[in-house]
Amino acid sequence: MIRGDSIAEWGHLARRFFGSWSAASLAEADCVWVAEVLSVQEFELWQRQPLADRRHAVQVARQVESELAKRSAGFADDDDVSWVLVAALLHDIGKVESGLGIWGRVAATVVVKVCGPATVRRWSERDRFRGRLGRYLSHPELGAELLRRAQSDRRTIAWVKEHHQNQATWVTPPELARILHQSDND
Ligand SMILES: [Fe+2]
Ligand SMILES: [Fe+2]
Repeated sequence: MIRGDSIAEWGHLARRFFGSWSAASLAEADCVWVAEVLSVQEFELWQRQPLADRRHAVQVARQVESELAKRSAGFADDDDVSWVLVAALLHDIGKVESGLGIWGRVAATVVVKVCGPATVRRWSERDRFRGRLGRYLSHPELGAELLRRAQSDRRTIAWVKEHHQNQATWVTPPELARILHQSDND
């Protein structure tokens, strides 16, 4: 029997897959906004992402921005939540280390289902296609390392590293983590 969460997961993958074929570029207003939110080093990383990933990241970050606006009454005036937007914009930055295109990512999804994530992750140090698959699956850790080198906020780095982990292990404040997580899966 197919479980409900499996259907949701495959639905999410299908949306990402078909969305990645779109050639629509980013709106100018979004480009300006991204440049305002990110530091110079973070923006350089951002530009390394393929268009489909940049579009996905903006979608996630805009959703996070609107959720934060709804809850602004719950945050103190001096609460700095800009790191949350940076986390939304760069949560998948580690994928640039895999160099996988659309079909490679489809293959990665299938191989992970067959071999299991732990096995595929162990391939990260290998060369050729297996290495790419391993690095694709390790994108949270690789992304965290890229952001460490870009001197990002430690809270941004923490979320990027844990964004595919079990909720029980999150160190990001629960309400913000939930907003980031739900916006990524919408
Ligand atoms: Fe991710
Ligand atoms: Fe994502």
